[in-house]
Amino acid sequence: MFLEKDFIANLSSTSIEKGSFEWSAPSNIALVKYWGKKENQIPANPSISFTLNNCKTTTKVDFKKTIDGNFTFDILYEGEYKKEFVPKINHFFLRIEKYCSYINDYHFTIDTSNTFPHSSGIASSASGMAALAMSIMSLEKLLYPEMTDAYFYQKASFLARLGSGSACRSVKGNVVVWGNHEEISGSSDLFGVEFTSAIHSNFKNYQDTILLVDKGEKQVSSTVGHDLMHNHPYAERRFTQAHENLSKLKTVLASGNLDEFIAIVESEALTLHAMMMTSMPYFILMKPNTLEIINKIWKFRNETKTPVCFTLDAGANVHILYPENEIEKVFQFIKNELVGYCQNGQYICDEIGNGSQILT
Ligand code: PMV
Repeated sequence: MFLEKDFIANLSSTSIEKGSFEWSAPSNIALVKYWGKKENQIPANPSISFTLNNCKTTTKVDFKKTIDGNFTFDILYEGEYKKEFVPKINHFFLRIEKYCSYINDYHFTIDTSNTFPHSSGIASSASGMAALAMSIMSLEKLLYPEMTDAYFYQKASFLARLGSGSACRSVKGNVVVWGNHEEISGSSDLFGVEFTSAIHSNFKNYQDTILLVDKGEKQVSSTVGHDLMHNHPYAERRFTQAHENLSKLKTVLASGNLDEFIAIVESEALTLHAMMMTSMPYFILMKPNTLEIINKIWKFRNETKTPVCFTLDAGANVHILYPENEIEKVFQFIKNELVGYCQNGQYICDEIGNGSQILT
């Protein structure tokens, strides 16, 4: 079992003068949701997600040795300096400093861009923090060449988690679990692990069409949202339920039973929102069009028996999940009946993908 201290790099002075790495990392969509955390980004319950393929952040990190022993950085978005991003990146560096003391020897120039519109309401923190963590690990690998691949990815996920919890599920591909779960060997609160148990072919290239219902700023930040689970009247039951749902989902992923898959995934989405509605203060993050879409999906599923379902993040957008062999039918349904509920008719077609990738 890994402990936090296993991720402390014991490198005193570094010999690498400068260099550059570019990584991309995708977003992910949780099936069993992470909502509530303890100190130091430790999740209150385990979660599982599909890694996406098309919604990605690409991050290029140039690093150059300095002499004063304090890390400095510039952050750019699509080539333009972005002052608004400085606090978040600074916070990330401060959090990882204990585990990557070598960062203090360098100035970093970080240039990042997303494949999805910046103001789409799709959280870029998961893909962004994962892509940045991968580049930092590439630097660590230069300093410490004997590092194994397994450690490289584990520590990248560990660092990404310190930037944004769910980012630790964006390092690896297809299906990823984060958080200790007794039936998932190797699972850890410290980093995400690839789900290596059996996955039925029904889930191969599973589709996720993201309907952009509300592209505005998040009404409740994740930090505030997770905090609402402290002293929440239903918190303990919810955390137990997440363990139970992950057990059930493990069986369903192996059997390919899509009815059971749908029941777990939709219940998880509504539970996440129910937690927000029943916290103090309380929030409703769905919009009228979110509910219109959900009702349309239920009607379509009832009438056509097509195994299509929805899930939600902490916002109003709707992720529509369905098997690859249903693309034509579902896509027609989305175009005919759902696009009208999207802001400016916008949606993004995505599917399960392979995780982070090195570009240079
Ligand atoms: O990673 P955070 O702190 O932004 O939390 C994300 C939480 C949800 O997206 C609502 C659920 C999840 O597991 O991704």
